[in-house]
Amino acid sequence: MYFVANWKMYGVKNSLNTLDKVIKFSNSKEIKKGRIIYCPPYTLLSSFYKKFQNCLIDIGAQNCHESTEYGAHTGFVNSKMIKNIGANYVIIGHSENRNKGETDKLINQKIKSAINAKLKVILCIGESLKEKRSGKTKSVLSKQIKYGLDKIKIKTNLFIAYEPVWSIGTGKIPKPSELNQAIKFIKGKFKKKSPQILYGGSVNTSNIKNLKNIKGLNGFLIGGASQNAKNFIDIVKKTYN
Ligand code: PGA
Repeated sequence: MYFVANWKMYGVKNSLNTLDKVIKFSNSKEIKKGRIIYCPPYTLLSSFYKKFQNCLIDIGAQNCHESTEYGAHTGFVNSKMIKNIGANYVIIGHSENRNKGETDKLINQKIKSAINAKLKVILCIGESLKEKRSGKTKSVLSKQIKYGLDKIKIKTNLFIAYEPVWSIGTGKIPKPSELNQAIKFIKGKFKKKSPQILYGGSVNTSNIKNLKNIKGLNGFLIGGASQNAKNFIDIVKKTYN
């Protein structure tokens, strides 16, 4: 199981101290086969890399520019730069960025650039509340997968995080039946090998007991709860107990 901590626009130098507990935990037997990946803001990637050098915790970025080359793009960071800092993952297509105008086409270019830089991609997909209410969940997921992964053959090193937009940061999660259906639907889109499927949206220390029983999930993308080391560790522990 993969446990991806998405710190969003939180975290300063001092936040590094909170990671000691997680490092200790990651070296213990309790974690079993779980893999922890931290996605801090760009400003902390390098410090996180150094901090995790002697443990198995991996790091990733929360987005990347679509260009495979360096260039005159003020304020942006490309996949090569992310890989160069020691990160192995990148989150692409998060709804918070889709809401700011990131299209499936742009997401597709970003994924291509990330694959080119040998980063593992966590592609976020999910329907809004309005889309859910009007019965459009499947068509939204279909579209995001189809155009997001257009002309992308390499499906290894690809993770799809199913994150219903209405579930992010709200404390609400889908019903088990809804989640089962969505996961089955996503997997069905891939003829041969399905990518690893993560669930994201208000994962916390209470609902993990139910979420861990959902079949076909390979892990979780955790926002708010991942900023508190104790809660994050608890989520991992409860997944296995
Ligand atoms: P949340 O965020 O756990 O705070 O809902 C998840 C995400 O946006 O990746």
